[in-house]
Amino acid sequence: MCGIIGHVGDSDAIDTLITGLENLEYRGYDSAGVAVQNGSGIAIQKRSGRVSELKESIEDRPLKGRVGIGHTRWSTHGPPTDENAHPHTNSTTDVAVVHNGIIENYAELKARLERKGHEFTSDTDTEVIPHLIQQYLDEGVENETAFRRAIDELEGSYAVAVMVSGEHALYAARRGSPLVVGVEDDEFFLASDVPAFLEYTDEVVYLEDGDVAIVRPDGVEFTDLGGNPVSRDLETVNWDPEQTGKGEYDHFMLKEIFEQPTSLAQAIEGRTDPETEAVHLEGFGPGTFDGVETVQLIACGTSYHAALYGSLVLNQAGIPSRALLANEYSVCAPPVDEETLVVAVSQSGETADTLSALREATAEGAQTLTVTNVMGSTAAREADDSLLIRAGPEIGVAATKTFSSQAVVLELLAHRLTCDVLGTSPFDLESFLPELDRLPGRLEGLLESTDARAIARRYQGSQSYFFIGRGLGYPVALEGALKFKEITYEHAEGFASGELKHGPLALVTPETPVFAVFTGQEDEKTLKNAEEAQTRGAPVVAVCPDDHRATEVADAHLEIPPTNPELAGLLANVQLQLVSYHAADLLGRPIDKPRNLAKSVTVE
Ligand code: M6R
Repeated sequence: MCGIIGHVGDSDAIDTLITGLENLEYRGYDSAGVAVQNGSGIAIQKRSGRVSELKESIEDRPLKGRVGIGHTRWSTHGPPTDENAHPHTNSTTDVAVVHNGIIENYAELKARLERKGHEFTSDTDTEVIPHLIQQYLDEGVENETAFRRAIDELEGSYAVAVMVSGEHALYAARRGSPLVVGVEDDEFFLASDVPAFLEYTDEVVYLEDGDVAIVRPDGVEFTDLGGNPVSRDLETVNWDPEQTGKGEYDHFMLKEIFEQPTSLAQAIEGRTDPETEAVHLEGFGPGTFDGVETVQLIACGTSYHAALYGSLVLNQAGIPSRALLANEYSVCAPPVDEETLVVAVSQSGETADTLSALREATAEGAQTLTVTNVMGSTAAREADDSLLIRAGPEIGVAATKTFSSQAVVLELLAHRLTCDVLGTSPFDLESFLPELDRLPGRLEGLLESTDARAIARRYQGSQSYFFIGRGLGYPVALEGALKFKEITYEHAEGFASGELKHGPLALVTPETPVFAVFTGQEDEKTLKNAEEAQTRGAPVVAVCPDDHRATEVADAHLEIPPTNPELAGLLANVQLQLVSYHAADLLGRPIDKPRNLAKSVTVE
């Protein structure tokens, strides 16, 4: 977790650092801080709370400098206090450091440094880094050597950016946490993620594990930790800077929900041809998956729900497939061999649990593939292949548009796989592909006419919220509940509709609305399950087309346009996203930054 930013150039660094931190705040918002070279040394401002509070404090006590670093924190070691906010320094403030990751051997390093007289002022693991650098500087070595030696002592994961007083340069290194360099003529940026500096440049260099980058006003040098040059490509990111702003919307989440017609159109663009009934996945031609016998999809949170969606499509088509929580993988992974395809599903491509499962699958000899939104992310680079979902930047902590794009891209992948392995598509292409083509338009209609706010208001104050679905409606029910609890802080649970009667029904009361998702697969059974809850007093909200029989039974209705069963759940999911959004809005929750959470979870 945490976001780091750095700037070296002719212009003042503060604006760039604050903008970068605002764009990175989705990675953590417990505290924020910046440090700049101000001509007479390193000047720092940092505090607990949001970037906006730091910004106000800088407006009161301005900082100036052309070289600087900044940090927004999601606490791991120590509570979110001013003292624990980054940047951290040595005792004379000659070295300032921002860090994302976890230094596993910090306790031992700290004890050693304390024995040598170093005094620490925070609870963080990061603070050992400036002290280690100082120790080497005290021995009389150059800044660069001191930096390399200090980094060499660290165990664990890190993306770090370091400034040494008086030198107009930034020293950076990565292992296990993301770090990217942005280049715009003679302005250079360092950040955990591209949106941090996207309004300044779309030319980027992704660092790889073990890389060191030294950023000076005249350019960037890439080496390994030993100082040997490494060659890294300059890539152009095709994200629009407009996409990283809220535009006319009150929240990124709402903006991203409304972007789904576009993001879905992007996900399928050039990949399907309804006229010839063809699917083309770039880099995955016919025969790519010959010999694959089983598929495991590994992911966390919302991405896990998309993975479950994909695995159900594969199973229905006849390919043995399982969706597995990445954080459980190391304890209970089913066996893999070279006929197993392991698909890591991750919006960010940086989720530590997912990366760790991916590495385990690789070590066991499986074929690997990453389905991600972030080109150049760690998961994309470490898997044998990667497939982009093309959703554009998602800033709201609650994943919305990336879920629908993941699900659709996994359906296209399922098509390629089953064609290769079984010689047939999981879909009736004659109806599926035109319906897929119409999905963005159908979504536009749904977004214009939704009753989600009225429904959210009607059931406000309930004791608990249940979401049920069957088949492809099941992952949608799970996702509906995750979204609801994540941003409203109200209790919500998702169930396979048939499971309700095996225990959860005991919780059902008039205070527990049940949102029932109908996809066209065994809907009569789902309706029966919903009625079982209704008989016990629970209000039922049917998420289904207008002419569906469930509307006659249910207490309330969220309409979805009629479509194929393989796509209906995605439309239902958007209605549930909207219900969660409006319920949270009515409660006045900080929707884009729910408490205790961060968008990219880079710790296990
Ligand atoms: O970046 P990833 O897709 O790997 O993130 C996995 C989860 O942390 C993420 O999906 C999380 O559950 C959502 N932000 C919740 O809305």
